[in-house]
Amino acid sequence: MTARPAPARAVVAAYRERYGEAPHWLVRAPGRVNLIGEYTDFNEGFVLPVAIDRAVWVAAGPRAGREVEVLALDVPASATFDLDRLTRDAPSWVEYLKGCAWALQEQGHALAGWQGVVAGDVPAGAGLSSSAALELATLRAFALAGNLPWSPTAMARLGQRAENGWVGVACGIMDQMISAAGESGHALLIDCRSLTLEPVPLPRDVRVVILDSATRRGLVDSAYNERRAQCEAAARALGVGALRDATLAMLERAAGHLEAVVHRRARHVISENDRTLQAAAALRAGDATAVGALMDSSHASLRDDLEVSTPALDALVTVARGEPGCLGARMTGAGFGGCAVALVTASHIDAFAEAVRQKYRTASGREAMIYVSQAAGGVAVEPVAPHGGE
Ligand code: GLA
Repeated sequence: MTARPAPARAVVAAYRERYGEAPHWLVRAPGRVNLIGEYTDFNEGFVLPVAIDRAVWVAAGPRAGREVEVLALDVPASATFDLDRLTRDAPSWVEYLKGCAWALQEQGHALAGWQGVVAGDVPAGAGLSSSAALELATLRAFALAGNLPWSPTAMARLGQRAENGWVGVACGIMDQMISAAGESGHALLIDCRSLTLEPVPLPRDVRVVILDSATRRGLVDSAYNERRAQCEAAARALGVGALRDATLAMLERAAGHLEAVVHRRARHVISENDRTLQAAAALRAGDATAVGALMDSSHASLRDDLEVSTPALDALVTVARGEPGCLGARMTGAGFGGCAVALVTASHIDAFAEAVRQKYRTASGREAMIYVSQAAGGVAVEPVAPHGGE
């Protein structure tokens, strides 16, 4: 039996200590890594992410009254808020929880108070969606406490609403959707317009490897929002509701009256949508080599047309691609630092990780963190006491 992850054990133990009894519920919500389909979600396009085996865990129980009390072990800090008097405060982890309460109530859900402990092993700010994982774990806890119906898609939308409307980040739907609806052993092709989901199996002899560049940048939000505005400007200029409906031929015809930078942004999105659909088809056909090549092109497009990569991410991707067994590599998530993702044949994994660490250190002076991730399932209520006890 595989040991339960450390944060799962920690939240259960801390709950027992704080409240003198076992938690009623234990929730796991995964982070994610995106194989391909970057900056396409808010253009109503396609994405192909994988839920990873790193997650946010919440141990929770019911609480009389209208308050939610949560202890965050990783901060560490605790916070209490009143469901009838939600106020927006300075940015912090608790705003994600309040944002979920706000979004649920705005939709007409009657909420009940709860108490809980939260912890996780999704590195924050690394582009692995620790905030979407926190949102989905929070929404699941609210659903348990208030006996609300659970729909992964509806709850993913509410997580996005919390982030857009309460936290103030104009993100798309990808991160919440994969945390809500990921499937073990599969990537998930998400049509971000219809929210149709298609799990696509990952080949058994290939591993999804997360390469953390050990760089972070604070300005991601403003740069992200600027890319979003440029994509919307491109869609308007092309006369389509969203870039999902544009083609490269349309873009070339309109090139004369588009600002060069807007033209490049649109070229990224339109070509990335095509690559994502091609990658899903290649995965279905078991052709991991083709997926790797598409990931390589995606990186070039993110670097040159969308301009969201960094020298550190470029160096990491170059180092990874030079190693035997690497089928393809690209930056992943919003960029400006954070992580890259590589597809690597299973038999090469150990040598690959060691060589990438060494060569990235030489190239950048930084220590890459490397996670070989299993494709996990989406948010779930787990048994409080696993079989075999703990
Ligand atoms: C962030 C956002 C997502 C998506 C990616 C870029 O992760 O939260 O909605 O736009 O960036 O693909």
